[in-house]
Amino acid sequence: MRIITQASFGGPEVLVPGEAPVPEPLPTEVLVRVRAAGVNPVDWKTRAGRGMSGVLGDPPLTLGWDVAGVVESIGLGVTTLAPGDPVFGMPWFPRAANAYAEFVTAPSRQFARKPPELTFEEAGGLPLAGLTAWQILVDTANVQPGQRVLVNAAAGGVGHLATQVAKSRGATVLGTARTVNHAALRRHGVDVPIDYTATDVAEAAGRVDVVVDLMGGTRSLAATLGPGGLFVNVPSAAPAELAAEVEQRGARFTRFLVEPDHEGLFALSQLVEDGELRVEVAATFPLERAAEAHALGEKGHTAGKIVLTV
Ligand SMILES: NC(=O)c1ccc[n+]([C@@H]2O[C@H](COP(=O)([O-])OP(=O)(O)OC[C@H]3O[C@@H](n4cnc5c(N)ncnc54)[C@H](OP(=O)(O)O)[C@@H]3O)[C@@H](O)[C@H]2O)c1
Repeated sequence: MRIITQASFGGPEVLVPGEAPVPEPLPTEVLVRVRAAGVNPVDWKTRAGRGMSGVLGDPPLTLGWDVAGVVESIGLGVTTLAPGDPVFGMPWFPRAANAYAEFVTAPSRQFARKPPELTFEEAGGLPLAGLTAWQILVDTANVQPGQRVLVNAAAGGVGHLATQVAKSRGATVLGTARTVNHAALRRHGVDVPIDYTATDVAEAAGRVDVVVDLMGGTRSLAATLGPGGLFVNVPSAAPAELAAEVEQRGARFTRFLVEPDHEGLFALSQLVEDGELRVEVAATFPLERAAEAHALGEKGHTAGKIVLTV
């Protein structure tokens, strides 16, 4: 099968086409023919020797965790999926899933049926960013109707999905992006768009219940929280002072890492079916052009998701 591989850590140019044997599904696993593989910041961080490189180990390696595709075959014991079923998922994270490839094998319950409302490209962009949004807003913050949620970097892959999940819980959403992205923010349900290049974000936001900091380590946002509030620092890096500043205000500080999540995939599918969640695909590239997809994503201004088509 065709894959994207890298022989060393480095810039986008280390991503090159290669070949590998088609994997065999073990008992309880499915073999999925990949139609679309989402590209996430953890992909380019790992490519460069950061991100999950400590988990994946030294190159050669194949990146990618987001999969949308069709079940090709099933291992012994699988009863809930059959060959021909369209599925999506984020298998194996943070271990290697090797999703930049024509085929992926993984435990069947790390996938769910693709909602028919989504194209393969949209479904390929949903799992990692969508599960991040769901696990933060529902499992971690347990957002309630009427609460105020500030999403820092609301136009991006996680941000536009986090906005929609928060709205589905009845929250008021404040979101940061450059003004050029404010129409998109409003389309996804942001009630109060804030241009972080032109405004003091904390001042414009006022008091909120939950901060979802997708930039990571944004100390100025601690000021938006009071007793009972929650600061979720999404990228791993955060200055030590930030947690202390949040806790001084009687609020809670937490780090977060997304996990494979069968129930979360079902919940996202349900939101799609109910018309409460749409996936914005900003750009697609054929698998062979993964390097270009990374170069675009790394600029840091993607509105929605970048997806590789296979
Ligand atoms: N811990 C976890 O489990 C987990 C899971 C998923 C993602 N993450 C991390 O979360 C971060 C966001 O991921 P993502 O997929 O949403 O990234 P992304 O799609 O690449 O984010 C791009 C967005 O960031 C916005 N942005 C750039 N600079 C900004 C700033 N200074 N303030 C506010 N917004 C800004 C851009 O909006 P403008 O163009 O308007 O500037 C753009 O829409 C990444 O670091 C990623 O690694 C962590």
